[in-house]
Amino acid sequence: MARVLSCIQPTGEVHLGNYLGALRNWVGGQHENDVFHGIVDLHALTVTETPNVLGENTLSLAAMLFAVGLDPDVATVFVQSHLPQHSQLAWIMECTVSYGELSRMTQFKDKAARREADFVSAGLFTYPALQAADILLYDAHEVPVGDDQRQHIEITRDIAIRFNHRFGDTFVLPKAVTPKAGARVMDLQNPDNKMSKSTSGDSGIVYLLDEPAAIERKFKRAVTDSGSDVVYDRANKPGVANLLEILAAATNTTPEAAAAQFSQYGALKAATGAAVVEMLAPIRSRYHELMNDRGELARLVRRGDDRAEQVAAATLARAHAAIGMLPR
Ligand code: TYM
Repeated sequence: MARVLSCIQPTGEVHLGNYLGALRNWVGGQHENDVFHGIVDLHALTVTETPNVLGENTLSLAAMLFAVGLDPDVATVFVQSHLPQHSQLAWIMECTVSYGELSRMTQFKDKAARREADFVSAGLFTYPALQAADILLYDAHEVPVGDDQRQHIEITRDIAIRFNHRFGDTFVLPKAVTPKAGARVMDLQNPDNKMSKSTSGDSGIVYLLDEPAAIERKFKRAVTDSGSDVVYDRANKPGVANLLEILAAATNTTPEAAAAQFSQYGALKAATGAAVVEMLAPIRSRYHELMNDRGELARLVRRGDDRAEQVAAATLARAHAAIGMLPR
């Protein structure tokens, strides 16, 4: 049984990229593996400046994780800030990663550039050290993520290797696991950019809680490419390729096989919209049910927190002992 860990930030609404790139695969692996999934509110703090939104977003995201199908009896869903071990190990990680390594992170460079006129926190820069702590605390073998997180998993491995070399074998080396279709869902209005709550307007983003009519409209208006043949060609037809990947992921086929069913862009857009509506409908209704019983939701999270803390506390103690810090 592999130990699996992956996390998601409570910033904005969950979208189709999050679902196809990550959440769906968390659910798929929960019965074969020992799985831990964190709602990483400390990571969200790197860009949070408004009071009284983070807690509500955290609870809503918990409802969404159960709504997509995580089963609280087998999957451990926890809130990062409820476990002090994440912050504690993060400092040790900061002392095990170099300034140069952090400077090479493309996510930092992109986010800092986009926030040019805004406040760029030091936390945005040291973010990968906290992420390394999230992963290494759980002795995770596998980290199911979208393509955009690969670099963060690589740096986590490098940090673990360095720590193990300095202080003796302490951490498990994790590897990223990405899905065949859906690892990089692109914005429907701008298929050269990934679908992302922080980069674009709502018309190119499909949210898991969107009404069916809104989803169909977004797909109908999706930007496609010149020409009219439906072929799967990421480099030359990024818009069509994105639709084919989404359709393939939603209907469990390959983009190539999906392409063979269509001769026109219009029919492809309509079919993709319909497949996504069908896939998301049960999630939306379960989400609303769960949000109607906040007491029960909070109880499920507390249960996850307790299970997660047992593992995290043991790993942190192991790290302190490996370094040889004075026990209190
Ligand atoms: P976050 O919150 O931005 O995204 C959560 C998950 O969704 C995936 N994802 C996508 N996949 C495909 N196409 C897209 N357009 C798309 N957009 C997002 C992400 O790859 C991710 O798997 N740094 C992480 C959170 C994190 C984490 C961790 C992840 C903190 N600690 C430990 C794994 C392990 C992040 O910002 O993900």
